Amino acid sequence: MANQKGGVGKTTTSVNLAAALSMHGQRVLVVDLDPQGNASTALATEHRGDVPDVYQVLVDDLPLAEIVKQVPDMPNLYCAPATIDLAGAEIELVSMVAREARLRRALTAFDAMELDYILIDCPPSLGLLTVNALVAADELLIPIQCEYYALEGLGQLLRNVDLVRVHLNPNLNLSTILLTMYDGRTRLASQVADEVRAHFGQTVLNTVIPRSVRVSEAPSYGQSVMTYDPGSSGAMAYMDAAREIAFRGAEV
Ligand SMILES: Nc1ncnc2c1ncn2[C@@H]1O[C@H](COP(=O)(O)OP(=O)(O)OP(=O)(O)O)[C@@H](O)[C@H]1O
Ligand SMILES: [Mg+2]
Repeated sequence: MANQKGGVGKTTTSVNLAAALSMHGQRVLVVDLDPQGNASTALATEHRGDVPDVYQVLVDDLPLAEIVKQVPDMPNLYCAPATIDLAGAEIELVSMVAREARLRRALTAFDAMELDYILIDCPPSLGLLTVNALVAADELLIPIQCEYYALEGLGQLLRNVDLVRVHLNPNLNLSTILLTMYDGRTRLASQVADEVRAHFGQTVLNTVIPRSVRVSEAPSYGQSVMTYDPGSSGAMAYMDAAREIAFRGAEV
């Protein structure tokens, strides 16, 4: 999940898609690649103090298996947490060998768990952490918030994706765009959605994630909305989005 714009729903989408897929028996790992550690918080995974984290994997070559934790009460869901240490990685990576491919290397060496999906939650920047995610991934999901300015900066993201594809990861595919925080009462939201669909066509999931208070409350209980309030509009939408993604994957 990447979009250098902040607060568009990257973390919410990572956590809830992961939970939805895991509830269907898929084995899912969420890699928290954001020093804010929001995905770790939402997945009730310790990420303060000196817990081993993604920073040590990227910078100190710690095997990924040593930081991955099973998410409480979610048998098929795992989290690789980020601590605030990761904030330093953006700078420390600059001088390292193969600095763009550190995450890919760690994921390649990590095959013990027979995972079905690995979801990487990117920080709101186009720096080396996001580049590491783009180099490690086969697919890119861009969450787009249904607000004014939603498309601003998207061109820059797409140019970076092209550069990564040409130079570092030919497999990278912008497979999915997800419209988030859709407010059906406003004309603006539907205008943004129409514009995104006109531009990106089939890449945009049919499912749209509605703005829902339950979605924003869930993380403070260390839960995804999928368990916090499974009947809520947000939970049902993320379940639909997960189903679409799973079926699309099956078609390939
Ligand atoms: N569908 C939704 N309905 C209501 N609130 C939402 C919804 N999706 C996300 N939010 C809230 O919007 C805020 C931003 O969402 P989120 O943290 O997922 O974005 P982000 O892109 O990961 O942000 P950052 O760029 O800081 O990492 C959060 O407070 C989240 O709870
Ligand atoms: Mg986030």
